[in-house]
Amino acid sequence: MLRTLTSGLELDDDPRRVDVAAVHAFLSIESYWARARTAATVQRLVHEASRVVGLYDGLRQIGFARVVSDGVAIAYLADVYVLGPWRGRGLGFELVREAVERGPHRDLRWILHTADGHAFYEKFGFEPPSDRLLVRNP
Ligand SMILES: CC(C)(COP(=O)(O)OP(=O)(O)OC[C@H]1O[C@@H](n2cnc3c(N)ncnc32)[C@H](O)[C@@H]1OP(=O)(O)O)[C@@H](O)C(=O)NCCC(=O)NCCS
Repeated sequence: MLRTLTSGLELDDDPRRVDVAAVHAFLSIESYWARARTAATVQRLVHEASRVVGLYDGLRQIGFARVVSDGVAIAYLADVYVLGPWRGRGLGFELVREAVERGPHRDLRWILHTADGHAFYEKFGFEPPSDRLLVRNP
């Protein structure tokens, strides 16, 4: 679904609109979590995602978020970013709100990883895990 923000920028969950080269460029150059990811892998992750939400300034991809879910119990939020020049004006908030609270996965249990975004994600109800959560790292 396409949502036009008051700024004229657009949120769109159509995976065909994703500029894979632009997402790959951010992830491989600027992110701290996916520098080794190839463009082919990014393409595959977009294709296999339960939902992707892109943030667009016209044709330009200025933000992205990816959701992986079984559609019933659990959803995982990944690869959230807004390009530097567009940060600090509420767009990251709208991007995550669209992915988490406005999509088909809103009533599920959500998980994410972050190095420093804890306060940001608290706004959407994310909190540190209970001692029931275990992780198996690669
Ligand atoms: C995290 C990110 C998506 C936020 O996007 P943004 O457009 O700057 O965020 P917003 O302007 O919507 O900010 C919303 C609120 O979250 C806060 N916030 C933003 N980034 C934050 C961070 N890293 N840690 C804590 N709070 C943060 C803002 O101060 C703002 O708070 P306020 O509403 O009380 O003023 C963006 O900074 C980004 O792309 N960072 C680099 C990639 C990254 O680290 N992604 C997250 C990986 S988990």
